[in-house]
Amino acid sequence: MVERIPQTFIDDLIDRSDITEIIGKRIEIKKAGKEYKACCPFHNEKTPSFTISPEKGFYHCFGCGAHGTSLGFLMDYEKLTFVEAIEELAKMLGMEVPKSSEDIKITKKQTNLKSLLNEVSDYFQSNLKSSKNAIEYLKDRGIDGKTAKEFCIGYSKNSWDDLTKKYGSTEKHIDLMVEAGLIIKKDKGGYYDRFRNRVMFPIRDNRGDVVGFGGRIIDEDDDPKYLNSPETSLFKKGYLLYGLFEGKQQISATKEVILVEGYTDVIGLSQYGIGNALATLGTATTESHIKLIFQKANELTFCFDADNAGRKAAIRALEICLPLIKQNKSVKFLMLDKGSDPDTAVREKGADGFRGILKESITLDDMIIEVCDSSFEIDSLTGKANAAEKAIHLVRQIREGIYKGLVVEKIAKHYGVPTSNFSTGSAQVEKPRERKESTKTKRPTLVHQAIKILLHDPSLGIKLTPNDDLKFIDQKGIDILNEIIGLVHDNQSIKVATIVQHFENKKLRNFLAELAIEEILVSSSEMEKEFNDIVLSLKKANLKKELNTLLEKAKSKSLNKTDEKRLKELTNNPKN
Ligand code: UTP
Ligand code: MN
Repeated sequence: MVERIPQTFIDDLIDRSDITEIIGKRIEIKKAGKEYKACCPFHNEKTPSFTISPEKGFYHCFGCGAHGTSLGFLMDYEKLTFVEAIEELAKMLGMEVPKSSEDIKITKKQTNLKSLLNEVSDYFQSNLKSSKNAIEYLKDRGIDGKTAKEFCIGYSKNSWDDLTKKYGSTEKHIDLMVEAGLIIKKDKGGYYDRFRNRVMFPIRDNRGDVVGFGGRIIDEDDDPKYLNSPETSLFKKGYLLYGLFEGKQQISATKEVILVEGYTDVIGLSQYGIGNALATLGTATTESHIKLIFQKANELTFCFDADNAGRKAAIRALEICLPLIKQNKSVKFLMLDKGSDPDTAVREKGADGFRGILKESITLDDMIIEVCDSSFEIDSLTGKANAAEKAIHLVRQIREGIYKGLVVEKIAKHYGVPTSNFSTGSAQVEKPRERKESTKTKRPTLVHQAIKILLHDPSLGIKLTPNDDLKFIDQKGIDILNEIIGLVHDNQSIKVATIVQHFENKKLRNFLAELAIEEILVSSSEMEKEFNDIVLSLKKANLKKELNTLLEKAKSKSLNKTDEKRLKELTNNPKN
């Protein structure tokens, strides 16, 4: 999806949007000359080092290095995805996001899949009424009618061809059902239903559309206990969470999420009024899951069963979370008693009882200690050293900040080791300053200077022909300069922000953003004169390089006709 919105449209959006308005609506900004200043919303600071340049169309924070366009700001501040931010910007500007033909095809296919899955889900739900076994099963588990309805619980008949008969009237429909994972092609021809005699839990996306199913056996002799839809273009298990749609309101009200292991845990908790529980779809927790949760909540409590699998899952979850913890986002861990899961616990102890258990969850830092201590025999010195080593390894993955500092102190104290053990070999904190100093002391190259000037006045780039005037020199950054010149030739009124945004490499973008926001202390006519001088020098260096290349070729007698002609031209030119 991401690449399919035409780049020209994205450039246009950024160009037209008013970054001052977009940021000013969200944080307090103050005018300072041509620019605006603010306290950076992406790190903690008291004196404003966050600068917005309306002219250039982007922001940059000299404190933490955050930078970007209006689009980037919306993504980072509002936690929107790329596409969502584009849609938001487009909406603000009253523009329609164009869809390429490829895009239209995919959207159409997904729409068809969704409508089929929604329809089948309704059908499963209607089956429930006539299945004594399924109703009996839900009753046994204590799932009431209201909850069953809210989660659209259904039943798949005990038949090999129920869905094929009902929905497979044309080849197109059959193909769609296969793609949705509802029916499976037999080796010897024909199809069979994936879900048979199961209680069906539809899994819905953020909008409430069914994108897949989980089906549980009713007859305890059947196998496997749970069967899920296969991965499809709609059903991406690494990104989806069960209960996200159903729990929307409570999550947004509490800003808290409880992540449990099973569908029935989500359902059981919800029935008891705890509607902010989510579950993964029978797979391990991924980074995307955590990011998704942190877009909607500030506090996440993992709730694991006490068995071995639960413990393993907890350790994995801990490792995934470490780099994702930031200001206002916290993680807790709850290991349940043996033989209990959230569903049974809430039914046994009630909502308040379960909330009481939740209070026993431990913080991330305590979890690190817990995991490390229980992984080794810490009564011995070697065991303790191993545990400390493991803790250090884990702590290093937390991003730099006040929280990390506190965790380091706590864990260093716990193991009786100096805090210096926790910094990574090359003293990470010092790095940015070192780099800044070195760029200051070293005289910037001509290419570097040219890029900087273009980032202040792109229109000057028209003086150079892309990939021609400078095609022989191989100085560092020349490809970037050429690319910028190319962009200017494509669009003479291109905004600086669009140029910066154009580069995919994040480090490079960061570097260009810094150059662009750095002040140039000369007037625009002086800047133009300086640029002309640089261009002249670069062209000269280019000719020299070309000449040298041809002379080398001549030495090895590999000049062709054009080469010879060109060599003559160059050697006759008195300027060289
Ligand atoms: P559990 O077996 O812990 O689920 O598996 P549960 O919810 O407690 O099951 P019951 O219904 O109360 O007995 C947790 C999750 O792991 C996945 C499912 O997503 C389930 O909700 N799972 C489990 C499978 O995908 N396949 C299986 O065979 C078992
Ligand atoms: Mn259970």
